[in-house]
Amino acid sequence: MRILVTGGAGFIGANFVHQTLAQRPDSQVTVLDKLTYAGNKASLDPVADRIEFVHGDIADADLVDRLVRETDLVVHFAAESHNDNSLTDPWPFVHTNVIGTTTLLNAVREHDVRYHHISTDEVYGDLELDDPARFTESTPYNPSSPYSSTKASSDLLVRAWTRSFGVRSTISNCSNNYGPYQHVEKFIPRQITNILSGSRPKLYGAGQNVRDWIHVDDHNSAVWAIIDGGRIGETYLIGADGEANNRTVLEAILEETGNAPDAFDFVTDRPGHDLRYAIDSTKLRTELGWTPTYVDFRAGLKATVDWYRENEQWWRPQKDATEAVYASKESVLN
Ligand code: NAD
Ligand code: DAU
Repeated sequence: MRILVTGGAGFIGANFVHQTLAQRPDSQVTVLDKLTYAGNKASLDPVADRIEFVHGDIADADLVDRLVRETDLVVHFAAESHNDNSLTDPWPFVHTNVIGTTTLLNAVREHDVRYHHISTDEVYGDLELDDPARFTESTPYNPSSPYSSTKASSDLLVRAWTRSFGVRSTISNCSNNYGPYQHVEKFIPRQITNILSGSRPKLYGAGQNVRDWIHVDDHNSAVWAIIDGGRIGETYLIGADGEANNRTVLEAILEETGNAPDAFDFVTDRPGHDLRYAIDSTKLRTELGWTPTYVDFRAGLKATVDWYRENEQWWRPQKDATEAVYASKESVLN
């Protein structure tokens, strides 16, 4: 099968390419990636001779049309993905997440190519900390940030192109991923690499916000389950029952790295900070028989800490610039 992976030099896309080539070695993979600050071609080094890499923008209609015409499947990961950045400058989020997705949809419509859309649980807004409810496929959309509202927009565009133009699509909305090759701006790698750099980890607000963690390989195995067996036009939520508050996760990282549980700084909270995300993945599990492999979060976290220890050459070039951006907007509250 010929597969076009957008955003394949990013965190989840790169892991998807690795998993695909390991498990489906006959796949012909083309990666289309703009190599923004978040894209890193080195994440594809282990498979560089087995893929075609195209450096370009998903909003470039001519380029996208040419690539989509030559493929059997588009898996669309490319996005501006970081909430904090979207609060500083929303425009790149509108460009890539809304205009870029529309550009891809026009091309898959034109060439009748199967399309899988990668999205986020953040389209549903947030839940109260003491609410037993979890998100399901029928939860109303209620995004909070410029990032999540552009992802919600992209989901709605997919639904419209599917209903109005017959595009053969599926959508998945996944919770917070962790694992190798995640940019050091994100919570777990930021704290691990702060510790490895001799700096104190940074916790927003009181650290009570809850995220529903899933290992990136489990996300990607679910994406393949949906591509293989999902019903056209359907949405599937992906989650691995990994709810934990940020302080608990940070204390686990401190323990894994041999530090005291209070060896971190409280810093300014994120404006509009979503309280809690939680996924009910019953539909995916019952309809497609998917189950996660990484059911022990602590074991997955330890493996991730080890990966960052062993791959400093991968993350070090981004670290200082990333921390400089944070330093310009956050204050230590201890
Ligand atoms: P990332 O920021 O690590 O990677 C994004 C990639 O997209 C980068 O390689 C970047 O260069 C590329 N890109 C950005 N703009 C582009 C453009 N205009 N044209 C071509 N390429 C472009 O993101 P990620 O964490 O790997 O997320 C991938 C997808 O998964 C996103 O759609 C995101 O919304 C979704 N998602 C992420 C998570 C998570 O926890 N990280 C959870 C659920 C869903
Ligand atoms: O839920 C899925 C989403 O998860 C994806 O759609 C996004 O692309 C992805 O970035 C992620 O969004 P979050 O905003 O939840 O992830 P982030 O890693 O930025 O933050 C996780 C939590 O940790 C959040 O509550 C904010 C907090 N945080 C984050 C950073 C960077 C801290 O306390 N300190 C930090 O330094």
